[in-house]
Amino acid sequence: MTVIDVRGATVRYDKRDVLHGVGLTVAEGEAVALLGANGSGKSTLVKALLGLVPLSSGQALLFGRPTRSFRNRSWIGYVPQRLGIGGGVPATVSEVVSAGRLARRRIPFPATAEDRRIVADSLASVGLADRAAEPVAALSGGQQQRVLIARALATRPKLLVMDEPTSGVDAANQELFAKLLAERLAEGCAVLIVMHELGPLADIIDRAVVLSDGHVTHDGPLPTPRGADGDHPHGVLPDDNPWSGA
Ligand SMILES: Nc1ncnc2c1ncn2[C@@H]1O[C@H](COP(=O)(O)OP(=O)(O)OP(=O)(O)O)[C@@H](O)[C@H]1O
Ligand SMILES: [Mg+2]
Repeated sequence: MTVIDVRGATVRYDKRDVLHGVGLTVAEGEAVALLGANGSGKSTLVKALLGLVPLSSGQALLFGRPTRSFRNRSWIGYVPQRLGIGGGVPATVSEVVSAGRLARRRIPFPATAEDRRIVADSLASVGLADRAAEPVAALSGGQQQRVLIARALATRPKLLVMDEPTSGVDAANQELFAKLLAERLAEGCAVLIVMHELGPLADIIDRAVVLSDGHVTHDGPLPTPRGADGDHPHGVLPDDNPWSGA
């Protein structure tokens, strides 16, 4: 089943088009990397397909339904790019991850034992079980980023959309994250992930879509950077677009 289906998407900010007729599909159990230089439109495409910014033309479907009428928010785990968490309101690590369970709850009923178990599991899966009771503000930047990953996982989503989720996350924890994603993919979860350097994720990515100035310039196997040899299996992706001719 096609989980994400974007066709002819154009997004305009301040009378300037930043996406020009972009198409993107992600199937159940598929991991797609969205690549491209700073300002190429990756975050805009992610927000547009989630319905967070309007399309000026084209369409975005989630699980076969237009994004705007899609109601099953609990099916989607989203890690926004560099979202400040806490926002001045003191919150513990486990409270932030619990927010990932809210869409599944019948407000105003409190968290169930299952909610608490899933929150604890999600934190353990990113290696932060022992920090649950601490204020998020007391964690390092990379640790806070891992809290956001845990929050997205805590929704038990059918689709994970992650905008540079591992920026600031160290190599060992990126390996852990790649394992987590592989498990979700095996369960049929669809994954769309914006990255600059794939690192250990390169092994689990099925397809790459490269944006350049709001246009798709590549959609297919992971491109190999120009000049790369067999010594760079993880395809480090520089910011200037090396995929010319792709
Ligand atoms: N809210 C906004 N209002 C006006 N212009 C915006 C807004 N958000 C993004 N833009 C512009 O849209 C273009 C695409 O931005 P976008 O954030 O999608 O890029 P990106 O590919 O995610 O870059 P990065 O790698 O730096 O995260 C940029 O030129 C940016 O200045
Ligand atoms: Mg971005």
